[in-house]
Amino acid sequence: MKIAIGNDHAAVELKNQIVEYVKELGHEVENYGTDSNASCDYPIYGKKVAKAVAMGSADCGILICGTGVGISVAANKVRGIRAAVCSEPVTARLVREHNNANIIAFGARIVGAEMAKEIVKAYLAAEFLGGRHEKRVHMIEVEEGESLI
Ligand code: RB5
Repeated sequence: MKIAIGNDHAAVELKNQIVEYVKELGHEVENYGTDSNASCDYPIYGKKVAKAVAMGSADCGILICGTGVGISVAANKVRGIRAAVCSEPVTARLVREHNNANIIAFGARIVGAEMAKEIVKAYLAAEFLGGRHEKRVHMIEVEEGESLI
């Protein structure tokens, strides 16, 4: 798969570790994040990754900031994006299986590198289950469309 990754200044080191790990898992990675430790604005990177996923230039995305929250909230403003913050691998698997999350996010100040790798592995290995979950995801999409009117 082609994975878009993005981060702010709080997550440069963890991003680099995750980029290497995602490649080891056999995926292609596109880096949309900052590579500088200078303070920056996480919405820029959340939206860049969200747009890459929404437009189909990446299959899914990984976002990392201090907590994973700010950058995922920014990404979720892009239509068609379901970005989910995960701090352990069970949630990471379920957000794909049930919510068809197309981006996962986590916090470099919350999870260590090994936990982050477990989160990424669980998410990338999971598949959307469809069925009853399809209708619920569709309900979110309908709401998203209507809220633009
Ligand atoms: C940056 O200090 C921090 O606010 C940011 O990385 C993130 O945690 C926001 O949600």
